[in-house]
Amino acid sequence: MAFAPPVLEIRGLHKAYGQLEVLKGVDLTARQGQVISLIGSSGSGKSTLLRCANLLEDSQQGDILFCEEAVHWRGAGHNRRPADAAQITRIRTNLSMVFQSFNLWSHMTILQNVMEAPVQVLRRDPKEVEAKARDYLEKVGIGDKANAWPAELSGGQQQRAAIARALCMEPKALLFDEPTSALDPELEQEVIRVIKALAQEGRTMVIVTHDMNLARDVSDHVIFLHQGLIEEEGAPDALFGSPKSERLRGFLSATSH
Ligand SMILES: Nc1ncnc2c1ncn2[C@@H]1O[C@H](COP(=O)(O)OP(=O)(O)OP(=O)(O)O)[C@@H](O)[C@H]1O
Ligand SMILES: [Mg+2]
Repeated sequence: MAFAPPVLEIRGLHKAYGQLEVLKGVDLTARQGQVISLIGSSGSGKSTLLRCANLLEDSQQGDILFCEEAVHWRGAGHNRRPADAAQITRIRTNLSMVFQSFNLWSHMTILQNVMEAPVQVLRRDPKEVEAKARDYLEKVGIGDKANAWPAELSGGQQQRAAIARALCMEPKALLFDEPTSALDPELEQEVIRVIKALAQEGRTMVIVTHDMNLARDVSDHVIFLHQGLIEEEGAPDALFGSPKSERLRGFLSATSH
């Protein structure tokens, strides 16, 4: 695993919103087949890091590499922007994001939601995309909901539809931002089962989560962010079993109740 090629590398990333420094030099490497979990208190910069990784947010300093290809920038500091539009599209479409709030389009059926980006953005053949979309809906356990509207689904079903939509892009990695935290506990489990199955089949994933059991069960590597810096990182057994940092110990004891 340590020698699998890297899909996503972030080196020394700095991000500020105006005067507010949110990321202060963060590194992350997700190799092919690896599952990385990001944990940390509210406001520590977890969502910001994911959003910078797929270029939804600008960053001011540091490198982002996708499949060993460095993002080209123009300008510097607060004026730094990705320079190459084709590269932005390539990276965004290959790092599919799943959000806490699902973000399904309410005016489209579930099947249309899953097909939309592969057909409209990647210009794939609609017939082939439809067959794949139906397969992915089956895979996440909602094959029977293809023609339903998002509002007709439970939260857990909507989130599984959002995962099918991300998978239908056939991305190199999936980025999850708190995929279960908007769900009731019993619905959470059906989404966790899907995420675990994806980990089992060797998908590359970066998961921001408040669910320490999920982080412990699925991750190869866990990163604890504190105020925009990596306070501690390592294998889940080490990190959860014998945390070294006082802050991580405090965080874990606060989240275990
Ligand atoms: N668009 C924005 N404009 C200004 N400040 C922002 C913006 N987005 C996030 N922030 C600030 O950046 C910091 C990090 O936010 P971020 O959303 O990355 O935290 P997080 O670790 O994901 O927290 P949570 O666990 O609550 O989701 C916070 O102080 C937040 O207020
Ligand atoms: Mg967040």
